[in-house]
Amino acid sequence: MYQSCVFILCSLVLLEPARLYGAEGIRSRHQHHYQNSLHRSGPQTMELINDPEKEPMFASDLPRNLTVQLGGTAYLPCTVHNLGNKSVSWIRNRDTHILTSDRDVFIVDERFSSLYNPDSSTWTLQIKYVQPRDAGSYECQVSTSPKKMHFFNLAVVVPKVRIIGNKDIHVQAGSEVQLKCVVSQAVEHPSFIVWYHNDKMVVSSGRRFPRYETPTRDSSIGTFTISHVVKSDAGNYTCQPANLHSAKVSLHVVNGELSEPSIQGSGGALSLLIHSELLFCCS
Ligand SMILES: *[C@@H]1O[C@H](CO)[C@@H](O)[C@H](O)[C@H]1NC(C)=O
Ligand SMILES: *[C@@H]1O[C@H](CO)[C@@H](O)[C@H](O)[C@H]1NC(C)=O
Ligand SMILES: *[C@@H]1O[C@H](CO)[C@@H](O)[C@H](O)[C@H]1NC(C)=O
Repeated sequence: MYQSCVFILCSLVLLEPARLYGAEGIRSRHQHHYQNSLHRSGPQTMELINDPEKEPMFASDLPRNLTVQLGGTAYLPCTVHNLGNKSVSWIRNRDTHILTSDRDVFIVDERFSSLYNPDSSTWTLQIKYVQPRDAGSYECQVSTSPKKMHFFNLAVVVPKVRIIGNKDIHVQAGSEVQLKCVVSQAVEHPSFIVWYHNDKMVVSSGRRFPRYETPTRDSSIGTFTISHVVKSDAGNYTCQPANLHSAKVSLHVVNGELSEPSIQGSGGALSLLIHSELLFCCS
């Protein structure tokens, strides 16, 4: 009875397949476009892109769809050939807010700025710490008459952050516990993952050991190990990856003997999962 219960639950917890859709591809495409627009320079190109006798026109290879990760920085590159003395403005379509015009920023939000590269004649709208509400359509507008515009669609990827197992984890005093926080569906790996015990950041000490595993292609994993759990270890544990949302579990420390033969020490996450699922589902 216990055996099958443990087996099923652990299969569910451990074997859940990693899901990710071509995040690397999205990122490199995005960077490629941006780099392109930054590096298009040299005297030959200059003549091509800055002929005052000609009408301003957008570069033919401007992207339309861009993807950025929650908390990351978005770059929307608008390259205009033969710009002459015309101005380039960025407009947010959601509320037709004029964000920037040439170097001036008209939005009271320090996350927005306008980067100019004269070599490539590119005005790049930069949005820092991207939020879900930043998703949508942006317009690069040239002040010709009639106006010329190019529309960019910005998508915001929100990675999944979760701590494996139940929201409530029951462990016996004296045992070892390992929490495992998994960030998946990310375009970029978070630069760090920190843990909080209630409101206090956890630092490495003799018994407590937070660790950022080497990220794989599909996920980033932060673990937090407590060897020899004591009563005061109980409470809420929050996993906070850089620039992303957090995940939380509650650790309950149980005194006294386990009714089952001890499964401690059989190896990290697995032993905790078996241990906690057992207490959760079957006792
Ligand atoms: C851009 O995204 C829209 C939907 O958001 C899609 O219909 C269109 O095909 C995409 N364009 C490109 C060039 O990927
Ligand atoms: C822009 O340049 C044109 C000639 O190229 C000139 O006639 C016009 O006055 C200039 N406009 C501004 C606003 O400087
Ligand atoms: C842990 O979080 C729960 C809500 O999820 C809250 O009710 C409880 O007070 C928290 N415990 C501590 C010790 O902060």
